Amino acid sequence: MSRSPSPNAQVNVVTGAFGYTGKYIARRLLAQGQQVRTLTGHPQHDSSLSDQVEVHPFNFDNPSALTESLRGASTLYNTYWVRFRRGRVTFDRAVANTQTLIQAAREAGVGRIVQISITNPSDDSPLPYFRGKGVVEKYLVESGIPYAIVRPTVVFGVEDILLNNIA
Ligand SMILES: NC(=O)c1ccc[n+]([C@@H]2O[C@H](COP(=O)([O-])OP(=O)(O)OC[C@H]3O[C@@H](n4cnc5c(N)ncnc54)[C@H](OP(=O)(O)O)[C@@H]3O)[C@@H](O)[C@H]2O)c1
Repeated sequence: MSRSPSPNAQVNVVTGAFGYTGKYIARRLLAQGQQVRTLTGHPQHDSSLSDQVEVHPFNFDNPSALTESLRGASTLYNTYWVRFRRGRVTFDRAVANTQTLIQAAREAGVGRIVQISITNPSDDSPLPYFRGKGVVEKYLVESGIPYAIVRPTVVFGVEDILLNNIA
């Protein structure tokens, strides 16, 4: 259940607050009375959270707009990634976009980044998903911004397809 933000509520940015993992992070923050802003590729998304969350596009190609959308945030929860390569969407592009996001967060003075990574990331992995996550982790660690890195093996829930199909 959401509460109205308290007068001194902190602003949190959650990428993909209407997505799979992001919506649980956003709901939890809202339930604590925190303010939530999201960056998303689907700003018009029809979600039960739409009226409680301030929405901005990703703006990876417009770093100054991206920086403004992060300004004032105490924490950035970054779920942004791509699941597989498709057309112009590549892991190299996801790495570059995430680096742009981290750089914008630094310029905006974001207090901390919580990076949702993956188990066993490595910048010399032969697997592009895991290699990209390793490169991004290193970039974050070297950015100077306080951070926490979460490395789930798999994220599951009631609407999860993979584990529910297996079950
Ligand atoms: N799902 C799992 O089991 C699992 C396991 C381990 C780690 N993780 C990590 O957890 C994080 C969140 O995963 P999730 O499954 O919850 O992801 P998701 O909701 O599908 O997407 C997370 C964010 O990435 C954006 N995104 C996804 N695919 C994209 C594409 N092809 N082009 C542009 N943007 C794209 C989404 O954009 P929109 O806002 O526009 O939707 C959203 O903002 C990821 O970093 C993932 O690596 C997930």
